Amino acid sequence: MSSLFKNPVARRLLRPATTLVDQRVQRPVSRLRKDIDKVAHGDREARESLRKELDSLRKELGGVRKEMGSLRDEVSGLRGKQYAYDLIFERVGRAGHRAPTKEQFEKLVDEIAEVSGQDRRFARRNATAAFRNVVALEALGVGRVAGTNSNVCGKLATVPLLDPPNGDVLEIGTLFGLFSATFMRMLHRAGIEPRLTIVDPLAGSQLQPGTNFGSEPTGTPVRLDVVRANLALGGTAGELARIQQGFSGDEEVREAVSDRQYGVIIIDGDHSEEGVAADLEWAEQIAAPGGIVVLDDYGDPGWEGVQAAGDKHLAGTTRFDLVGRVATSAFLRARD
Ligand SMILES: C[S@@+](CC[C@H](N)C(=O)[O-])C[C@H]1O[C@@H](n2cnc3c(N)ncnc32)[C@H](O)[C@@H]1O
Repeated sequence: MSSLFKNPVARRLLRPATTLVDQRVQRPVSRLRKDIDKVAHGDREARESLRKELDSLRKELGGVRKEMGSLRDEVSGLRGKQYAYDLIFERVGRAGHRAPTKEQFEKLVDEIAEVSGQDRRFARRNATAAFRNVVALEALGVGRVAGTNSNVCGKLATVPLLDPPNGDVLEIGTLFGLFSATFMRMLHRAGIEPRLTIVDPLAGSQLQPGTNFGSEPTGTPVRLDVVRANLALGGTAGELARIQQGFSGDEEVREAVSDRQYGVIIIDGDHSEEGVAADLEWAEQIAAPGGIVVLDDYGDPGWEGVQAAGDKHLAGTTRFDLVGRVATSAFLRARD
Protein backbone atom coordinates (compact mmCIF):
# COMPACT_ATOMS: atom_id res chain seq x y z
CA MET A 1 0.00 0.00 0.00
CA SER A 2 1.36 3.47 -0.89
CA SER A 3 2.46 5.51 2.15
CA LEU A 4 -0.18 8.07 1.14
CA PHE A 5 -2.92 5.57 1.91
CA LYS A 6 -1.40 4.68 5.28
CA ASN A 7 -1.58 8.28 6.45
CA PRO A 8 -4.91 8.80 8.31
CA VAL A 9 -5.16 12.50 7.31
CA ALA A 10 -4.55 11.69 3.66
CA ARG A 11 -7.06 8.83 3.88
CA ARG A 12 -9.69 11.17 5.32
CA LEU A 13 -9.02 13.80 2.65
CA LEU A 14 -9.10 11.23 -0.15
CA ARG A 15 -12.22 9.39 1.09
CA PRO A 16 -14.72 11.16 -1.24
CA ALA A 17 -12.37 10.63 -4.17
CA THR A 18 -11.78 6.96 -3.44
CA THR A 19 -15.53 6.38 -3.11
CA LEU A 20 -16.01 7.96 -6.52
CA VAL A 21 -13.23 5.86 -8.00
CA ASP A 22 -14.73 2.70 -6.47
CA GLN A 23 -18.09 3.50 -8.08
CA ARG A 24 -16.52 4.28 -11.44
CA VAL A 25 -14.52 1.07 -11.53
CA GLN A 26 -17.28 -1.07 -10.02
CA ARG A 27 -19.86 -0.34 -12.73
CA PRO A 28 -17.88 -1.63 -15.74
CA VAL A 29 -16.57 -4.54 -13.67
CA SER A 30 -20.16 -5.72 -13.00
CA ARG A 31 -20.95 -5.43 -16.69
CA LEU A 32 -17.80 -7.41 -17.52
CA ARG A 33 -18.82 -10.17 -15.16
CA LYS A 34 -22.06 -10.66 -17.03
CA ASP A 35 -20.20 -10.72 -20.40
CA ILE A 36 -17.62 -13.20 -19.11
CA ASP A 37 -20.49 -15.54 -18.20
CA LYS A 38 -21.83 -15.30 -21.76
CA VAL A 39 -18.36 -15.81 -23.35
CA ALA A 40 -17.94 -18.89 -21.22
CA HIS A 41 -21.05 -20.20 -22.95
CA GLY A 42 -19.48 -19.62 -26.47
CA ASP A 43 -21.29 -16.36 -27.41
CA ARG A 44 -19.26 -14.46 -30.13
CA GLU A 45 -21.16 -11.22 -29.80
CA ALA A 46 -20.44 -11.35 -26.16
CA ARG A 47 -16.69 -11.77 -26.88
CA GLU A 48 -16.73 -8.60 -29.07
CA SER A 49 -18.62 -6.65 -26.43
CA LEU A 50 -16.19 -7.89 -23.81
CA ARG A 51 -13.25 -6.53 -25.83
CA LYS A 52 -14.95 -3.12 -26.07
CA GLU A 53 -15.69 -3.13 -22.39
CA LEU A 54 -12.05 -3.92 -21.64
CA ASP A 55 -10.88 -1.01 -23.82
CA SER A 56 -13.20 1.42 -22.11
CA LEU A 57 -12.20 0.10 -18.71
CA ARG A 58 -8.53 0.68 -19.60
CA LYS A 59 -9.31 4.29 -20.53
CA GLU A 60 -11.30 4.76 -17.37
CA LEU A 61 -8.41 3.46 -15.30
CA GLY A 62 -6.02 5.86 -17.04
CA GLY A 63 -8.27 8.76 -16.02
CA VAL A 64 -8.51 7.47 -12.46
CA ARG A 65 -4.71 7.19 -12.22
CA LYS A 66 -4.33 10.78 -13.42
CA GLU A 67 -6.87 12.00 -10.85
CA MET A 68 -5.13 10.09 -8.07
CA GLY A 69 -1.83 11.66 -9.10
CA SER A 70 -3.20 15.18 -8.86
CA LEU A 71 -4.86 14.38 -5.50
CA ARG A 72 -1.52 13.06 -4.22
CA ASP A 73 0.14 16.34 -5.27
CA GLU A 74 -2.62 18.31 -3.56
CA VAL A 75 -2.24 16.36 -0.28
CA SER A 76 1.53 16.74 -0.28
CA GLY A 77 1.06 20.51 -0.83
CA LEU A 78 -1.34 20.61 2.14
CA ARG A 79 1.19 18.71 4.26
CA GLY A 80 3.81 21.32 3.42
CA LYS A 81 1.46 24.11 4.53
CA GLN A 82 0.56 22.19 7.70
CA TYR A 83 4.23 22.13 8.66
CA ALA A 84 4.52 25.92 8.48
CA TYR A 85 1.25 26.25 10.43
CA ASP A 86 2.64 23.95 13.13
CA LEU A 87 5.77 26.09 13.44
CA ILE A 88 3.60 29.07 14.36
CA PHE A 89 1.17 27.33 16.71
CA GLU A 90 2.96 24.32 18.24
CA ARG A 91 4.20 24.21 21.85
CA VAL A 92 7.94 24.40 21.23
CA GLY A 93 9.33 27.41 23.11
CA ARG A 94 6.28 27.86 25.35
CA ALA A 95 4.29 25.85 27.89
CA GLY A 96 1.56 24.63 25.49
CA HIS A 97 0.34 24.89 21.88
CA ARG A 98 -1.76 27.78 20.57
CA ALA A 99 -4.12 25.75 18.42
CA PRO A 100 -7.49 25.41 20.18
CA THR A 101 -10.10 23.13 18.64
CA LYS A 102 -13.43 24.53 17.47
CA GLU A 103 -15.17 22.75 20.38
CA GLN A 104 -12.80 24.28 22.95
CA PHE A 105 -13.18 27.74 21.47
CA GLU A 106 -16.99 27.57 21.24
CA LYS A 107 -17.16 26.38 24.86
CA LEU A 108 -14.99 29.33 25.86
CA VAL A 109 -17.25 31.76 23.98
CA ASP A 110 -20.30 30.28 25.79
CA GLU A 111 -18.64 30.75 29.18
CA ILE A 112 -17.57 34.34 28.42
CA ALA A 113 -21.10 35.23 27.26
CA GLU A 114 -22.63 33.67 30.36
CA VAL A 115 -20.31 35.30 32.91
CA SER A 116 -20.33 38.73 31.25
CA GLY A 117 -24.07 38.63 30.54
CA GLN A 118 -23.25 39.99 27.07
CA ASP A 119 -24.45 38.88 23.67
CA ARG A 120 -22.57 35.85 22.33
CA ARG A 121 -21.43 37.93 19.31
CA PHE A 122 -19.45 40.21 21.61
CA ALA A 123 -18.04 37.27 23.54
CA ARG A 124 -16.88 35.72 20.26
CA ARG A 125 -15.44 39.01 19.01
CA ASN A 126 -13.41 39.46 22.19
CA ALA A 127 -12.26 35.85 22.40
CA THR A 128 -11.11 35.98 18.77
CA ALA A 129 -9.29 39.29 19.25
CA ALA A 130 -7.69 37.91 22.41
CA PHE A 131 -6.49 34.80 20.60
CA ARG A 132 -5.00 36.80 17.72
CA ASN A 133 -3.24 39.11 20.17
CA VAL A 134 -1.77 36.23 22.19
CA VAL A 135 -0.38 34.58 19.05
CA ALA A 136 1.01 37.87 17.76
CA LEU A 137 2.60 38.98 21.03
CA GLU A 138 4.06 35.58 21.82
CA ALA A 139 5.61 35.58 18.35
CA LEU A 140 7.11 39.04 18.79
CA GLY A 141 7.73 39.11 22.52
CA VAL A 142 10.39 37.73 24.82
CA GLY A 143 9.24 34.71 26.85
CA ARG A 144 5.62 33.56 26.86
CA VAL A 145 2.15 34.10 28.26
CA ALA A 146 1.41 31.61 31.06
CA GLY A 147 -1.67 29.38 30.80
CA THR A 148 -3.76 27.39 28.34
CA ASN A 149 -5.56 29.03 25.42
CA SER A 150 -8.90 29.01 27.25
CA ASN A 151 -7.40 30.31 30.48
CA VAL A 152 -5.54 33.18 28.81
CA CYS A 153 -8.18 34.17 26.25
CA GLY A 154 -10.88 33.82 28.90
CA LYS A 155 -9.27 36.47 31.12
CA LEU A 156 -8.41 38.76 28.23
CA ALA A 157 -11.88 38.60 26.68
CA THR A 158 -14.07 38.65 29.78
CA VAL A 159 -12.72 41.57 31.82
CA PRO A 160 -13.41 44.27 29.19
CA LEU A 161 -16.98 42.92 28.86
CA LEU A 162 -17.48 43.24 32.63
CA ASP A 163 -17.01 47.00 32.27
CA PRO A 164 -14.54 47.75 35.08
CA PRO A 165 -15.20 51.06 36.92
CA ASN A 166 -11.82 52.59 36.04
CA GLY A 167 -8.68 51.84 34.02
CA ASP A 168 -6.33 51.24 36.97
CA VAL A 169 -5.05 47.67 36.73
CA LEU A 170 -2.93 45.81 39.29
CA GLU A 171 -1.33 42.54 38.24
CA ILE A 172 0.13 40.50 41.10
CA GLY A 173 2.62 38.11 39.45
CA THR A 174 3.55 38.99 35.87
CA LEU A 175 6.30 36.50 34.95
CA PHE A 176 7.41 37.94 31.55
CA GLY A 177 4.84 40.76 31.42
CA LEU A 178 3.47 39.45 28.16
CA PHE A 179 -0.03 38.79 29.48
CA SER A 180 -0.12 42.35 30.82
CA ALA A 181 0.92 43.77 27.45
CA THR A 182 -1.85 41.79 25.73
CA PHE A 183 -4.35 42.83 28.40
CA MET A 184 -3.53 46.51 27.84
CA ARG A 185 -4.37 46.06 24.18
CA MET A 186 -7.67 44.32 24.98
CA LEU A 187 -8.73 47.07 27.36
CA HIS A 188 -7.76 49.73 24.84
CA ARG A 189 -9.87 47.99 22.17
CA ALA A 190 -12.83 48.35 24.54
CA GLY A 191 -12.24 52.12 24.80
CA ILE A 192 -10.52 51.99 28.20
CA GLU A 193 -7.21 53.86 28.59
CA PRO A 194 -5.53 51.64 31.19
CA ARG A 195 -2.86 52.47 33.76
CA LEU A 196 -0.89 49.42 34.80
CA THR A 197 0.84 48.53 38.06
CA ILE A 198 2.77 45.27 38.39
CA VAL A 199 4.05 43.52 41.52
CA ASP A 200 6.52 40.66 41.04
CA PRO A 201 9.94 39.87 42.54
CA LEU A 202 11.33 39.34 38.99
CA ALA A 203 13.93 37.15 40.58
CA GLY A 204 15.39 35.56 37.45
CA SER A 205 12.97 32.63 37.39
CA GLN A 206 9.39 31.94 38.44
CA LEU A 207 9.05 31.56 42.21
CA GLN A 208 6.33 29.36 43.71
CA PRO A 209 6.60 28.05 47.26
CA GLY A 210 7.10 24.28 47.22
CA THR A 211 7.27 24.04 43.42
CA ASN A 212 10.29 23.34 41.27
CA PHE A 213 9.59 24.31 37.66
CA GLY A 214 12.70 22.78 36.17
CA SER A 215 13.86 24.50 33.03
CA GLU A 216 11.77 27.31 31.59
CA PRO A 217 10.49 26.25 28.12
CA THR A 218 11.38 29.62 26.58
CA GLY A 219 14.89 29.75 28.05
CA THR A 220 14.16 33.40 28.92
CA PRO A 221 15.02 34.85 32.35
CA VAL A 222 12.27 36.45 34.47
CA ARG A 223 13.84 39.91 34.71
CA LEU A 224 12.89 43.56 34.71
CA ASP A 225 14.46 44.27 31.29
CA VAL A 226 12.49 41.36 29.78
CA VAL A 227 9.22 42.61 31.27
CA ARG A 228 9.95 46.12 29.99
CA ALA A 229 10.66 44.79 26.48
CA ASN A 230 7.31 42.97 26.48
CA LEU A 231 5.33 45.84 27.95
CA ALA A 232 6.48 47.99 25.03
CA LEU A 233 4.20 45.76 22.92
CA GLY A 234 1.24 46.85 25.04
CA GLY A 235 1.14 50.42 23.73
CA THR A 236 1.39 53.56 25.85
CA ALA A 237 -0.07 51.86 28.92
CA GLY A 238 2.61 49.18 28.71
CA GLU A 239 5.42 51.68 28.26
CA LEU A 240 4.21 53.77 31.21
CA ALA A 241 3.57 50.79 33.48
CA ARG A 242 4.66 51.04 37.09
CA ILE A 243 6.66 47.99 38.18
CA GLN A 244 7.17 47.29 41.85
CA GLN A 245 9.70 44.54 42.38
CA GLY A 246 9.04 42.41 45.45
CA PHE A 247 6.45 40.11 47.03
CA SER A 248 2.82 41.17 47.30
CA GLY A 249 2.88 40.30 51.01
CA ASP A 250 5.74 42.73 51.76
CA GLU A 251 4.66 45.86 53.64
CA GLU A 252 6.83 48.27 51.62
CA VAL A 253 5.54 46.79 48.34
CA ARG A 254 1.94 47.20 49.45
CA GLU A 255 2.56 50.71 50.66
CA ALA A 256 4.16 51.73 47.37
CA VAL A 257 1.19 50.68 45.24
CA SER A 258 -1.82 51.09 47.56
CA ASP A 259 -2.18 54.70 46.44
CA ARG A 260 -5.31 54.12 44.35
CA GLN A 261 -8.48 52.10 44.01
CA TYR A 262 -8.03 49.57 41.24
CA GLY A 263 -10.72 48.85 38.65
CA VAL A 264 -9.09 45.49 37.91
CA ILE A 265 -6.88 43.31 40.13
CA ILE A 266 -5.38 40.13 38.72
CA ILE A 267 -4.22 37.71 41.39
CA ASP A 268 -1.63 35.45 39.74
CA GLY A 269 1.40 35.52 42.05
CA ASP A 270 1.99 33.09 44.91
CA HIS A 271 -0.43 30.20 44.14
CA SER A 272 -0.31 28.59 47.61
CA GLU A 273 -3.53 28.74 49.67
CA GLU A 274 -1.88 31.14 52.17
CA GLY A 275 -0.47 33.32 49.37
CA VAL A 276 -3.82 33.62 47.57
CA ALA A 277 -5.67 34.24 50.84
CA ALA A 278 -3.25 37.10 51.67
CA ASP A 279 -3.64 38.64 48.20
CA LEU A 280 -7.45 38.48 48.50
CA GLU A 281 -7.29 40.24 51.88
CA TRP A 282 -5.16 42.98 50.35
CA ALA A 283 -7.47 43.24 47.33
CA GLU A 284 -10.40 43.92 49.72
CA GLN A 285 -8.66 47.18 50.68
CA ILE A 286 -7.58 48.42 47.24
CA ALA A 287 -10.38 47.34 44.88
CA ALA A 288 -12.54 50.22 43.61
CA PRO A 289 -16.30 49.91 44.13
CA GLY A 290 -17.47 47.73 41.25
CA GLY A 291 -13.86 46.62 40.67
CA ILE A 292 -13.14 43.25 39.10
CA VAL A 293 -10.83 40.74 40.79
CA VAL A 294 -9.54 37.91 38.59
CA LEU A 295 -8.50 34.85 40.55
CA ASP A 296 -6.28 33.06 38.08
CA ASP A 297 -5.99 29.25 38.02
CA TYR A 298 -9.16 28.83 40.11
CA GLY A 299 -10.25 25.18 39.69
CA ASP A 300 -6.97 24.20 38.05
CA PRO A 301 -6.07 20.79 39.55
CA GLY A 302 -2.40 21.80 39.41
CA TRP A 303 -3.06 24.72 41.80
CA GLU A 304 -5.55 23.48 44.37
CA GLY A 305 -4.64 26.22 46.84
CA VAL A 306 -6.19 28.87 44.60
CA GLN A 307 -9.74 27.52 44.74
CA ALA A 308 -9.37 26.54 48.39
CA ALA A 309 -8.40 30.11 49.33
CA GLY A 310 -11.00 31.65 47.02
CA ASP A 311 -13.89 29.55 48.36
CA LYS A 312 -12.92 30.21 51.98
CA HIS A 313 -12.62 33.91 51.33
CA LEU A 314 -16.02 34.14 49.61
CA ALA A 315 -17.65 32.19 52.46
CA GLY A 316 -16.40 34.76 55.00
CA THR A 317 -16.98 38.49 55.44
CA THR A 318 -16.09 40.10 52.14
CA ARG A 319 -16.88 42.90 49.70
CA PHE A 320 -16.55 40.45 46.83
CA ASP A 321 -19.29 38.55 44.99
CA LEU A 322 -18.48 35.71 42.64
CA VAL A 323 -19.58 36.79 39.15
CA GLY A 324 -18.67 33.44 37.61
CA ARG A 325 -15.95 31.32 36.15
CA VAL A 326 -14.46 31.15 32.68
CA ALA A 327 -12.06 28.26 32.01
CA THR A 328 -9.73 28.29 35.02
CA SER A 329 -10.34 31.86 36.23
CA ALA A 330 -12.87 33.09 38.76
CA PHE A 331 -14.21 36.63 38.37
CA LEU A 332 -15.26 38.57 41.49
CA ARG A 333 -16.84 42.02 41.72
CA ALA A 334 -16.33 44.37 44.67
CA ARG A 335 -19.34 45.93 46.32
CA ASP A 336 -19.16 49.61 47.45
C1 LIG B 1 2.03 32.22 37.05
S1 LIG B 1 3.25 33.43 36.95
C2 LIG B 1 2.39 34.83 36.34
C3 LIG B 1 1.94 34.66 34.95
C4 LIG B 1 1.45 35.92 34.26
N1 LIG B 1 0.45 36.60 35.04
C5 LIG B 1 0.89 35.54 32.92
O1 LIG B 1 -0.35 35.48 32.80
O2 LIG B 1 1.66 35.27 31.97
C6 LIG B 1 3.50 33.85 38.64
C7 LIG B 1 4.50 34.96 38.85
O3 LIG B 1 4.31 35.46 40.18
C8 LIG B 1 5.58 35.56 40.82
N2 LIG B 1 5.36 35.51 42.27
C9 LIG B 1 5.50 34.47 43.12
N3 LIG B 1 5.18 34.83 44.37
C10 LIG B 1 4.82 36.15 44.32
C11 LIG B 1 4.40 37.08 45.27
N4 LIG B 1 4.25 36.76 46.57
N5 LIG B 1 4.12 38.34 44.88
C12 LIG B 1 4.24 38.69 43.57
N6 LIG B 1 4.64 37.83 42.61
C13 LIG B 1 4.92 36.58 42.99
C14 LIG B 1 6.37 34.42 40.21
O4 LIG B 1 7.76 34.57 40.42
C15 LIG B 1 5.95 34.53 38.74
O5 LIG B 1 6.71 35.49 38.07
